[in-house]
Amino acid sequence: MTSSIIASQINKKNDSVLGLATGSTPVGTYRNLVEQYRNGQIDFSHITTVNLDEYCGLEPKHPQSYRFFMDENLLKHVNINAEKIHFPTKNENFDTKIQKIGGIDLQLLGIGHNGHIGFNEPDTVFYNNTRVVKLAPSTINANSRFFDDVANVPKTAITMGMSTIMAARKIVLIAGADKTEIINKLSEDIVSPQFPASILHYHPDCTVILSLE
Ligand code: F6R
Repeated sequence: MTSSIIASQINKKNDSVLGLATGSTPVGTYRNLVEQYRNGQIDFSHITTVNLDEYCGLEPKHPQSYRFFMDENLLKHVNINAEKIHFPTKNENFDTKIQKIGGIDLQLLGIGHNGHIGFNEPDTVFYNNTRVVKLAPSTINANSRFFDDVANVPKTAITMGMSTIMAARKIVLIAGADKTEIINKLSEDIVSPQFPASILHYHPDCTVILSLE
């Protein structure tokens, strides 16, 4: 379902700017998109991608970097122009860059068990831009499953801010069965910086997909 929403965005506007997320949840979506590309149903040649976040201190070729994840799961399998792939770095203003390329048409999001989106952890500020953040101990723990040792999980990351995410024209948040509790909480009518994803109640075009498979 999520891949069909992204595919129709690509087919509706062949030079769309797609905001992408990493993590376990979107792996199936990216697999479906690669399959649709191979079947000739979608074309990435004019697509631009901007990723939500990246760990600080990991080289793009590091197997746990988000750049490496995106290459392995999507980017190296489709006909995207390498110059149109963007990740936040400490050396430039990512928000200005996103504005220059026309803004995000569709932003894909996952959600943390603690309600984070991107790496905007609880007690966030609702109007922040892309910046370096300290990861919450619970996020370091959750992400340690990808590292040999919890000590090797970077302690900081650079993430799109709440304002960056909210400026996307369309948002699709996806969650698996393991996130049922937090998605139930999201369905309540409470908006609080303690629960970063709750800001999405104010977005005019946000779809939340809970997959119970
Ligand atoms: C990933 C990201 C994170 C994840 C979230 C859920 O780029 O920004 O917010 O979306 O931590 O991760 P998974 O899907 O691994 O449960």
